[in-house]
Amino acid sequence: MSVTISPSLLSADFLELKVELERLNKIDDLWIHLDVMDSHFVPNLTFGEPVLNKIKTISKHKLDAHFMVTNPDLFAESFKDVGLHNFTFHWEAVTHHDRLISKLKSLYPSVGISLNPSTPLSVVPDYIWGKVDLVLLMSVNPGFGGQKFIPEVVDKVIELDKIRFEHQFKFQIQVDGGVTDQNAGYLIQSGANNLVAGSYIFSEPNKDYQTRINKIR
Ligand code: DX5
Ligand code: ZN
Repeated sequence: MSVTISPSLLSADFLELKVELERLNKIDDLWIHLDVMDSHFVPNLTFGEPVLNKIKTISKHKLDAHFMVTNPDLFAESFKDVGLHNFTFHWEAVTHHDRLISKLKSLYPSVGISLNPSTPLSVVPDYIWGKVDLVLLMSVNPGFGGQKFIPEVVDKVIELDKIRFEHQFKFQIQVDGGVTDQNAGYLIQSGANNLVAGSYIFSEPNKDYQTRINKIR
């Protein structure tokens, strides 16, 4: 499996979002990671459908939305015309997982589930692993960019890769939070094939994001 890098726009300069997206358009094979937060599931508030609609008009990349929200069911409907490629919701936020996954599969090309650092893989039954396109393992507590990577998540990546291999599941393993050139190698060797990175990419002083992305790759 090839590795996809998904820069998290949370760390981009919001005052020049258009220019930031154009910079990313010069780089190939990216997803754009969009952290939608509701100030309820996580203690932060970011952007919603009107901003994502604008992003869609500029970006050439697949849009990868990570919903850190209490009621993703509501967002499933209201974001359906934005043109998202992937819709990821948090396992912890939902009661009727199977129902929501079926609904999302009718609306979006790719559906992901996300687990907080303290949520074990054992909460997800095998038949669900077979239904999703992506599993996002949080390597920081969700809500903010620029936090320190929690190294214990590497064991979780290894365990999930084993489950994927044993059952020949097709989902991507995405890791999000504190990803840098220092830990990307371990993560990829452990089975991750989609890495989200925000502050590491956008803190490049000359806005040379290609260099940072190459280092992760
Ligand atoms: C955190 C978000 C992440 C965040 C990553 O809750 O889900 O996508 O933007 O940012 P860095 O790479 O700075 O940890
Ligand atoms: Zn995220």
